Amino acid sequence: MLEAAGRVTLTELTWGSAHWRKTGAMMPPTGLTQVQLFDAVLLGAVGAPDIPDDITLWGLLLPLRQQLDLWANIRPARLLPGIPSPIKAAARDIDMLFIRENTEGEYAGVGGRAHQGLAHEVALEAGVFTRTAIERVVRYAFAQAEARSCRVISATKSNASRYGYVLWDEIFAAVATEHPNVASERVLVDALAARMVRDPSSIDVVVASNLFGDILTDLAGALQGGLGMCASANVAPETAKPGVFEPVHGSAPDIAGRGIANPCGAIWSAALLLDHVGDRGGRVILQALQDVCADGPRTRDVGGSATTAEVGTAITDRVAELIRRRPAR
Ligand code: IPM
Ligand code: MN
Repeated sequence: MLEAAGRVTLTELTWGSAHWRKTGAMMPPTGLTQVQLFDAVLLGAVGAPDIPDDITLWGLLLPLRQQLDLWANIRPARLLPGIPSPIKAAARDIDMLFIRENTEGEYAGVGGRAHQGLAHEVALEAGVFTRTAIERVVRYAFAQAEARSCRVISATKSNASRYGYVLWDEIFAAVATEHPNVASERVLVDALAARMVRDPSSIDVVVASNLFGDILTDLAGALQGGLGMCASANVAPETAKPGVFEPVHGSAPDIAGRGIANPCGAIWSAALLLDHVGDRGGRVILQALQDVCADGPRTRDVGGSATTAEVGTAITDRVAELIRRRPAR
């Protein structure tokens, strides 16, 4: 579909759990250098029930995000017409854009364990917050808000936390003064979770730390029809770093191999990829995705009975049809 919609050449890198079983590593030692030879990466579902999560994730997805310094994780949460939401909301009411800090916070991997197995065993997991990382992601969120409805919310928990989120709030407030045209709100993450369910249309752009962004985007994903619908982009804006585009993780091992997984999140991610490299095919894919969500076929997680392949084929066919109608792209 990427090749049909965009001007791209695809190379497959067969990394992941099967690669780990063969070699003991999720990707080759030169993996991070290799991906930098490309403009973008479309990442599939990573993880397997028989391999510990810390191996699959710290062996592939998290190093890609952190070592390539892909500091913005962009997650559109839009309810597409035709897709059922668990809350009573019109499709137009759920259209949020989450900007998740993607390199540090609670995912920094800083900490340690001592006295293992003893009664006084201890584990420390430090949240790491730096001015550089907060400032760049907050600035990016304001820029996104300016391109949308000029509303941005920062989600923290600075009533309980005393350092990291307090720094975050200070930086958010300072950047806000540079954007008087943007209505900015600081909302405690717990209150924001409730507001997402009760009043989603009051929310447009949200900027949040790594962990809060993770949790909020699962909630947002549920509102937009489930994780199978969710797309994301790991990018380092204004750099030459290749973005990594992935359906929001989850490898859904419970349904693996049955041909019923919803391909929409992966296809939407491919659209984000093309957008990011400046290829107009991204818009074609998104339009095709929207059309098929509206008219069917749909997979069973979003109220249909179609297989993954049937939905994929329908969207591919729709892409071809849209291109035939609008040959200049
Ligand atoms: C996501 C996932 C990952 C995350 C996991 C798989 C490490 O939940 O992309 O949202 O927490 O970032
Ligand atoms: Mn997640």
